[in-house]
Amino acid sequence: MCNQDRTPLLDAITNFIETKPAYFRIPGHRLERGISSKWTDKVGKEVFAYDVTETPFTDDLHSPEGAIEEAQELLRELYDADKSFFLVNGTTCGNEAMLLSAAFEGQEVMIARNAHKSAMMGLIMSGAKPVYIMPEILDEWGLQGGITSEQVRRTFEEHPKCKALFLVSPSYYGITSDLKAIADVCHEYGAMLLVDEAHGGHLYFHEELPDGALEQGADLCVQSMHKVTGALTQSSVLHMKSHLVDVERLVTNLHIVQSTSPNYLLMTSLDCARYELAVHGTEMMKQALELAEYARARIRAIDGFSCMGQEVMGQAGIAGIDRTRLVISAKELGLTGFALEEILFERYAVNMELADYENVLAIVTYANTEDELERLIKACEEIAQKYSKEEKITCEQPKLRLITEQVLTPRQAYFAKTEEIMWQQAVGKISAEMIAPYPPGIPIIYPGERITQEVWDYLEKFRREKRHIHGSRDGKLEIIRIIKDV
Ligand SMILES: Cc1ncc(COP(=O)(O)O)c(C=O)c1O
Repeated sequence: MCNQDRTPLLDAITNFIETKPAYFRIPGHRLERGISSKWTDKVGKEVFAYDVTETPFTDDLHSPEGAIEEAQELLRELYDADKSFFLVNGTTCGNEAMLLSAAFEGQEVMIARNAHKSAMMGLIMSGAKPVYIMPEILDEWGLQGGITSEQVRRTFEEHPKCKALFLVSPSYYGITSDLKAIADVCHEYGAMLLVDEAHGGHLYFHEELPDGALEQGADLCVQSMHKVTGALTQSSVLHMKSHLVDVERLVTNLHIVQSTSPNYLLMTSLDCARYELAVHGTEMMKQALELAEYARARIRAIDGFSCMGQEVMGQAGIAGIDRTRLVISAKELGLTGFALEEILFERYAVNMELADYENVLAIVTYANTEDELERLIKACEEIAQKYSKEEKITCEQPKLRLITEQVLTPRQAYFAKTEEIMWQQAVGKISAEMIAPYPPGIPIIYPGERITQEVWDYLEKFRREKRHIHGSRDGKLEIIRIIKDV
């Protein structure tokens, strides 16, 4: 691939530092001298010299025409996009910009009900009217599956004016939907496919990984390069591959959601992560896949443990799985995912990405070591010795697919007058909050939706069982914020 061994932003900053400038710009720490020695004693000084701003050498993210433009162009070329952008406020701001670009106030946007909360923020900003679409549930693992093209078609038949479909693929657990078929349906209706690919920036670099969103027809997608590649936390990218997107508006929206002082360490980390993927991506993914597959086979051999694999493909709308993710369950030993996560860390210093009621999740990357995977496997083997198979946990997963009356859009609800009331008095009221029992993390209520008796009964069961409930201000759902005077 031509030119991909260059790192224009890294080189531009290096060249600037080599001029040994008398520095009178922001940031005030003057390259490295002004950083607390408490910190530099721990981490060294050199890196702070790269925390610069828009110097004559280092270009401007909001109006790129030098090193940043070149670095973004290399990224675009690598992903075969029409245009690619560096993001310094994570995929969060990319999702917001995508939704702001897709629809104006009052226009309809189809949106997967399990979307990350940044999608709700995008809806609040844009004023678009959400039309929700439910992911399937993979009962055996208590997880969300995919969205199918048939579901998407049915929803377009009822809402043909939807401007876009927003969905998450792959999910946190590495589950992908059939984006190719979904993109075809969206485009038949003249709508854009917007993909939150926060967990999928690496998919493009190995044939044993599912295809990426851009390869399957997505118009816009956002990737958290910090989640699985070598970029620093908060560093994401947005790609466009479409004739449906108004690029000027997209760029303006990126100005709205990003800092006017974008961090050069983050942007340099994107430049270097792109370089590594371009030059070594296939080997990096091979390494991650081999480590994960080795661990998956060993964990599956442990009595009482299970580890999700290819067998779930085709179920619950699942078109593919990213095998570098290890979804591990010890429910046959009576351990919830939360308990297993705690034991793994407290007793073995094995730190998982997350836990849910049934599972724990390990993200395996090229930068993990065999020794780390061995520690995880050994810990699971020891745990299996200590816990008996008699105490199975019974996991009742939410079967009900409730979508209730939408009285206000998320934006209208956000700007409405609200008040707090006791949860016991909430039937019939309009929620100002999103409430999502976790797992599976699908919001049962979005801001602006009516809390019907059916919805209340459903959530009440979770509340009484003291299950995790996301979105409730007090974390316990004893009180709820509702829209006043409606
Ligand atoms: C599916 C999904 N989308 C978006 C985000 C937000 O990404 P970021 O942390 O890069 O802002 C996350 C964060 O975990 C996520 O899991």
